Amino acid sequence: MSVLPRYLLPENSSVDAAGGLTIAGCDVIDLAAEYGTPLFVYDEDHLRARCREAVTAFPDGVAYATKAFLCKAMARLAHEEGMDLDVATGGELHVALAAGVPPQRLVFHGNNKSVSELTAAVEVGVGVIVIDSIVEIDKLRSVLEGRDEKVRVMVRLNPGVEAHTHDFLQTGATDSKFGIGVSDGTARGAVDSIRAIAQLDLVGVHAHVGSQVFDVSSFAKAVEVIADFVAEIDVPALSIGGGLGVPYVEGESAPTITEWGLTIHEAIERSGLDVKVHAEPGRAIVARSAVTLYTVGTIKEIPGVRTYVSVDGGMSDNPRPVLYGSGYEVFLVRSTSAERDTEIRLVGKHCESGDVIVWEGKVPSDLALGDILATPVTGAYGHTMGSNYNMVLRPPVVFAKDGDARLVVRREAYEDLLVRDLV
Ligand code: LLP
Repeated sequence: MSVLPRYLLPENSSVDAAGGLTIAGCDVIDLAAEYGTPLFVYDEDHLRARCREAVTAFPDGVAYATKAFLCKAMARLAHEEGMDLDVATGGELHVALAAGVPPQRLVFHGNNKSVSELTAAVEVGVGVIVIDSIVEIDKLRSVLEGRDEKVRVMVRLNPGVEAHTHDFLQTGATDSKFGIGVSDGTARGAVDSIRAIAQLDLVGVHAHVGSQVFDVSSFAKAVEVIADFVAEIDVPALSIGGGLGVPYVEGESAPTITEWGLTIHEAIERSGLDVKVHAEPGRAIVARSAVTLYTVGTIKEIPGVRTYVSVDGGMSDNPRPVLYGSGYEVFLVRSTSAERDTEIRLVGKHCESGDVIVWEGKVPSDLALGDILATPVTGAYGHTMGSNYNMVLRPPVVFAKDGDARLVVRREAYEDLLVRDLV
């Protein structure tokens, strides 16, 4: 028996006496009726509050990692609240610019930036390019040939710190495709090569230790490990990347952005470094701000085995359970505070047995066909990692605020499936 923990819901949620859920004053069942399901519902003020918290926690500058969730409305919102934006591909750059974010507020990442991506970044004048390899220095040199632009760059270091998280999410350990090794001297060489190019202005170093990290001492450790190197090369700024974890299921807890910021600033102080401190949270800004709504289409009880509840989305709107075995909660929107006493497996509509949204879900026993189910904490890496597998249409996104909902991304239509299909 268990009741959905409220701390997994968006901040401005409330549950009425009958168990009905509103998010930012919008009745969730009404939203499902108006926009259909699957549907991503974001609490706009929750997003704004997290952005402001990040700006306060990192007063020297903090970028929102757009890979966690990106559309024009989100890019604009993060910018309005004072964040820079981390973009890691030409595509993310394109969307951020289309949203009207000034290019100098963009941090351009990527472990394999193409010459055309680098050219675009230089031409539009992004705020900083984070160099991820020696090859990239050569690419930048050739992109800059015959041009007058000055380009601000950081070097992404591989600090060799193992964050406590899923293996696939570790990016800071020595065996990694990201960053440039410090201990083997490669980073020192990279710094010298960058400084030999007059048009490049080395403004800092960057170290991202992983994602969905609960133990903030990993970040402090990263600072400790690179401190001597940072002092030696004498750069004005250090970015600790993103990676702060969030609770997804009952029983989990994570530090706040404020606590994360404090830990990092304390570690910098202990290290004796005199640098500006930057960060790049993605998940911690957006994950809990959204729920995904689904309609129950099929309930299949296999006696002695389990009950499968199939809904109208699946791995195409949330591939995380399939990719990483990630856990989620599920709840019945018309009885949000009801005891969930029936064990089910929540699955999607894709032609694949692995198409699971919640492996060990619990729902109230009166769950019926046509009911609206919700999975909380689905604001990060769901919409952005979604796909068209089985030509399933990607869901719309609404932002709810003060009792109003606005559609910021429409549902995909069957015509969209043929837009790129030429013959
Ligand atoms: N900065 C850099 C350089 C990154 O590579 C990432 C995430 C971030 C910032 C933001 O990390 P966050 O604060 O969101 O943890 N798809 C996986 C997560 C991959 C994260 C990749 N890099 C997931 O769904 O859990």
